[in-house]
Amino acid sequence: MKRWIVLVLAGLIGHGAAAAADAGVASDGDFPPKASPEAMVYRGNIVYSNYCVLCHGVKADGMGRAAKIYNPKPSNLAMSDKNVQYKELIIRQGGAALARSKFMPPWNDELTNEQVSDVVGFLESLKTAAR
Ligand code: HEC
Repeated sequence: MKRWIVLVLAGLIGHGAAAAADAGVASDGDFPPKASPEAMVYRGNIVYSNYCVLCHGVKADGMGRAAKIYNPKPSNLAMSDKNVQYKELIIRQGGAALARSKFMPPWNDELTNEQVSDVVGFLESLKTAAR
């Protein structure tokens, strides 16, 4: 009866593990593996929801609830033309350090290195996400 569900699940898990192996990601027993892009984006989304959403908005389009009180407005991160290095720099050091708005806070003391790379990974994933 429910055997087909088990078979389908086993198939999916097997396939995922194979895909991870193909991508050269070492499996650490977690699924998806901690080092996989999927896990990074998942964690980055949590960081974003906690620290960034108020200004940059749920769609990362710069239309957060607090956006209207800032000038210049928080950037549309889904449409950003900046590279990964620049994003990491402004996230760590804040807008003022890069001669941009001081209302983009410096997150270096607040976020761990993992949180910074995860949130950058999340922002990168928005470029390809269907919306
Ligand atoms: C208090 C409001 C606020 C919060 C919270 C905030 N930002 Fe910003 N952010 C800004 C503003 C304002 C700018 C635009 C600066 C400018 O144009 O001079 C900006 C710009 C940026 C940029 C530059 C994008 C580009 O294309 O140039 C990135 C990347 C960014 N923010 C990421 C984040 C991340 C990640 C978080 C959460 C960890 C975050 N921001 C939290 C206000 C905020």
